[in-house]
Amino acid sequence: MAEPILEVRNISKSYAGVQALRDVSMSVAPGEVRCLVGENGSGKSTLIKTIGGAVVADAGEIVIGGTSFGSSVHPVEAIRHGIQIIYQDLSLFPNLSVAENISLNGMIEQSRRLANWKEMRRIAQDTLDQLDENIDVDMPLDHCSMAQRQIVAISRALTQGAKLIIMDEPTSAITAEDVSRLFKTVRQLNAQGVAMVFVSHKLDEVFEIADTVTVLRDGQKVGDYPAQELDEDKLTFLMSGQNLEFKPFTFDPEAEGAPLLLETRALSLRDQFSDVDLKIYGGEVVGLTGLVGSGRTELALSLFGLNPADHGEILVDGKPVKITGPQDAKRYGISYLPEDRHGQGLFEDQTIADNVVVTVIDRLREFLGLVDNRKREGVWRQWIERLRVKTPSAQNMVSTLSGGNQQRVVLAKWLAPEPRVFILDGPTIGVDVVSKARIHDVVQELARSGIGVLVISDEVTEIMQVCSRALVMQEGRIVAEFKDLQSVDGSEISKVIAREENAEVVS
Ligand SMILES: Nc1ncnc2c1ncn2[C@@H]1O[C@H](COP(=O)(O)OP(=O)(O)O)[C@@H](O)[C@H]1O
Ligand SMILES: [Mg+2]
Repeated sequence: MAEPILEVRNISKSYAGVQALRDVSMSVAPGEVRCLVGENGSGKSTLIKTIGGAVVADAGEIVIGGTSFGSSVHPVEAIRHGIQIIYQDLSLFPNLSVAENISLNGMIEQSRRLANWKEMRRIAQDTLDQLDENIDVDMPLDHCSMAQRQIVAISRALTQGAKLIIMDEPTSAITAEDVSRLFKTVRQLNAQGVAMVFVSHKLDEVFEIADTVTVLRDGQKVGDYPAQELDEDKLTFLMSGQNLEFKPFTFDPEAEGAPLLLETRALSLRDQFSDVDLKIYGGEVVGLTGLVGSGRTELALSLFGLNPADHGEILVDGKPVKITGPQDAKRYGISYLPEDRHGQGLFEDQTIADNVVVTVIDRLREFLGLVDNRKREGVWRQWIERLRVKTPSAQNMVSTLSGGNQQRVVLAKWLAPEPRVFILDGPTIGVDVVSKARIHDVVQELARSGIGVLVISDEVTEIMQVCSRALVMQEGRIVAEFKDLQSVDGSEISKVIAREENAEVVS
């Protein structure tokens, strides 16, 4: 076998109490495409950063092209030896041109004093030609799409003599179509002898592109596997260490004599949704699906008072109520987990505990407006334990948590007011399969505790896995209901969503 381009041996790294990597080794051969996979927080980014010199490992050895750098390699040395890391932020200059972004680092690297514009453009053009890419080299970078920027970052890597390009979750920011183009580029580079390490937690992508798969779990390496020996179930098992069987959730409100918590009658809002009759019983998980733009989010927002309806009725515990703002909704025990969690979810620069209690802080005030610290601690402790947020301390910044754990803090925050009806809009968008399964468990646990849950999702599989009943919306109307999800096939729901089937109340 050819000498590896890169070998990391027994790398360990901890951040203030968090063991991000423990004794991890990995080797990359010339010309291979390797995927580095693991659930959020498993240490993928940390491993790459130690390779690129952005993070110094506590122990271990990095060997590039046969040369050992001990436990820490200087970023310039890594580049000189042909290792190029493309981090998620791409590290490009938005106000420089495509040509400058591609060529500048290489020229600086060669210690050129004067930028030769003609040569700079030529280098950029040649590199883009080599990749069969048609991007105007004079275009300012901030006019480029995300996908084009990735190509610029790859081109920049090539001008600096990359033998190995490592990309950290490049596909999370681009569309499916751009993903296939990116993969085409990856294959092209590969054919030219450039090795790639590709970080992802999306299984279908892994199978599309990888020769070899390295799996991390909780900062440790599980193993290296030829891609053709794996399938989705095996890989999910390796990532999580458990068989994530989905547990169907059946609940028949009538048979159980469940309380009707929330009801709408002919609820309408001009140009958004009309004649919506919706019932949510305590103890059930109702799925609400449909195409983007079918009115699901608008309806949910109106139940939370953020987008009040203009016709029809909302009843809580059988009594008509007016919900004209979130304060009303909260008073009636309705909580809402928004779709856009970066905008409305967490305060990144505050502690985990503060993020959990923010929704109930008014309730925790004594006279003079001071917060009762004992009560406050009671609240965050309870929710961090119930949702099993994995952290050494609730006083850590929320930004130190992995994505899946941040998502649990968001849930904790909206659960702290102890809602009776909980509406979740896209609760697992962007989280890996393992965190997703855990969030599904939490949702079902909430229902078992008597809460009425409404889950909005694009994904029929998610609806099938987490809900007991499902509704489909089309153009602002509820057009189908699946009362017992155990007795239907997901494809029937998909057909209604895609309007291949006449809409009617089914099952
Ligand atoms: N700068 C940091 N400070 C503290 N903890 C960190 C830092 N960066 C990462 N971590 C922690 O290290 C672990 C691994 O994180 P990371 O390498 O980003 O995982 P991945 O890329 O697989 O999602 C996580 O628990 C994360 O919270
Ligand atoms: Mg990462």
